[in-house]
Amino acid sequence: MKLFLLCITFLGLSFYTMADLSAEQKQKVVGYGRECIAETGVEKELVSKVRQGSFSDDPKLKAFAFCLSKKIGLQNASGDVQADVLKQKLASIVNNADSINNLIFACVQKKATPEETAFHTFVCYYENTPNHVSIF
Ligand SMILES: *[C@@H]1O[C@H](CO)[C@@H](O)[C@H](O)[C@H]1NC(C)=O
Repeated sequence: MKLFLLCITFLGLSFYTMADLSAEQKQKVVGYGRECIAETGVEKELVSKVRQGSFSDDPKLKAFAFCLSKKIGLQNASGDVQADVLKQKLASIVNNADSINNLIFACVQKKATPEETAFHTFVCYYENTPNHVSIF
């Protein structure tokens, strides 16, 4: 049973990786990540943990999320989510308009601060995408 689940997961992952970001896009995001680590002083270890699905409740990690979100263009300087940009980015990852609209509906919620908004949005995508799309 476990092996069966593992195979399904593996197939799912390979399938989604094909529809994943282009190498160039990926490199850009990696570059932004480096810049935001430098700008916010977040511990690198906390950022690596995010890639494994563990989101620490850390103010610097939230600042990092907002920094990245701004650089990608998902939020503007005042912290408002730019729904059009978001739709366009998600369209290159998720190949289904309904899923995209559901994701946006579920995940775009304005929180008390731009940092909280960014953090919540990233966690929400992670939890609501089959391959755990991490925009990080
Ligand atoms: C950010 O976007 C919101 C709505 O999209 C807009 O009202 C606000 O003026 C924008 N802020 C900046 C700094 O561009």
